[in-house]
Amino acid sequence: MYMLKSILILATGASLASALDFAGYGNKALDAIKRNLPDIEIIKPRQALCPAVWTLVAAELSVTFLNTTDLRCNDDARAAIRAAFHDCASWNTSVPGGCDGSLILAPEELTRPENNGLQEIVAKLLALTQKYQAIDSSVTAADMIQFASSVAIVTCPLGPKVQTFVGRTDSSIASTKGLLPGPTTPSADIITLFANKGISADELIALIGAHSASKQFHVDSTQAGVPQDDTPGELDVDFYADTTSKPAGVFVLQSDAALAADPQTSATFQGFVGKQAQWSAAFTPAMTKLGLLGIKGGSTGLTDCTAAVPLSRVVPRSLVRRQPIMDRV
Ligand code: HEM
Ligand SMILES: *[C@@H]1O[C@H](CO)[C@@H](O)[C@H](O)[C@H]1NC(C)=O
Ligand SMILES: *[C@@H]1O[C@H](CO)[C@@H](O)[C@H](O)[C@H]1NC(C)=O
Repeated sequence: MYMLKSILILATGASLASALDFAGYGNKALDAIKRNLPDIEIIKPRQALCPAVWTLVAAELSVTFLNTTDLRCNDDARAAIRAAFHDCASWNTSVPGGCDGSLILAPEELTRPENNGLQEIVAKLLALTQKYQAIDSSVTAADMIQFASSVAIVTCPLGPKVQTFVGRTDSSIASTKGLLPGPTTPSADIITLFANKGISADELIALIGAHSASKQFHVDSTQAGVPQDDTPGELDVDFYADTTSKPAGVFVLQSDAALAADPQTSATFQGFVGKQAQWSAAFTPAMTKLGLLGIKGGSTGLTDCTAAVPLSRVVPRSLVRRQPIMDRV
């Protein structure tokens, strides 16, 4: 049996002992350390300041990702969040890859059906990588993808600020096929695919809350643009309720419905219904962890750039334009 690789992030300058309570990893991290010390990846960020270039990137992306008409995050934002998942998760603890920029640097990856719909954002992120690399050569494509996702998340109303690191190494070698789940993957297989990346079933259920902002285009092209909850472009928790209640105008992915019903995940899934704060608290560390998968030398080379990510937007519910669902498609 393989051993899971858990990730423990030390606060800058913290010792391992004082970090055991960090960001909700507390007891889990402690257990993991006791059980398989060599297999836990300890991320100890450098004591360095975040390179100033990321503040410029954040300013540009905040504009890129906002729909100024309806105050929601737009198509590019949603695609950027999905891209962050796809660059990192075509990896497991026994094959290399992970968050390495290969989604935008290895053209073959974009030809895979699971990456359909990411073409436009990938072209934009590649151009941004090149633009900002000319200003600061430490900018990598892998970091651009994760940083863009964090900016996209705070641009969606109710999107929380995710702890965000830079310092990843790029690779232009296409990642291993078959490690990303698809919309018809059975729930047990999805849970296993994530477990093989060191991501628990609970973390998986928090992560797919990203579908609260989402629209599908390629699962059923006759319903292109139909959202996965009644408020696309908002990172609320309506997704968790709508996946089961299936209101008119919502397209429920088979994989989401399966996870909502699977005895291994249904309690966690239903537990997020109406629970924005609990979801944010579970989503943010899981998203940080997702963004650290498979990083070469990750334990020494990372710098915390969370401060360069804009604050979550406070958008009064009354200002977010309410429309019949089908008008918003
Ligand atoms: C459980 C495994 C998952 C499956 C099977 C899955 C599958 C899908 C599918 C089929 C789409 C629609 C794509 C299209 O038709 O254009 C989609 C969209 C999306 N997914 Fe996932 N996903 C999963 C997990 C995640 C995770 C973990 C994240 C991020 C943390 C994520 C973020 C998104 C976003 C933001 C979109 C919307 C893209 C857009 O509106 O253009 N997904 N996903
Ligand atoms: C912005 O939102 C409005 C209203 O929902 C929509 O009609 C428009 O297409 C969106 N614009 C962009 C660029 O996404
Ligand atoms: C990782 O993926 C490879 C390729 O699909 C597979 O052969 C291997 O069994 C997987 N390993 C783990 C730990 O999941």
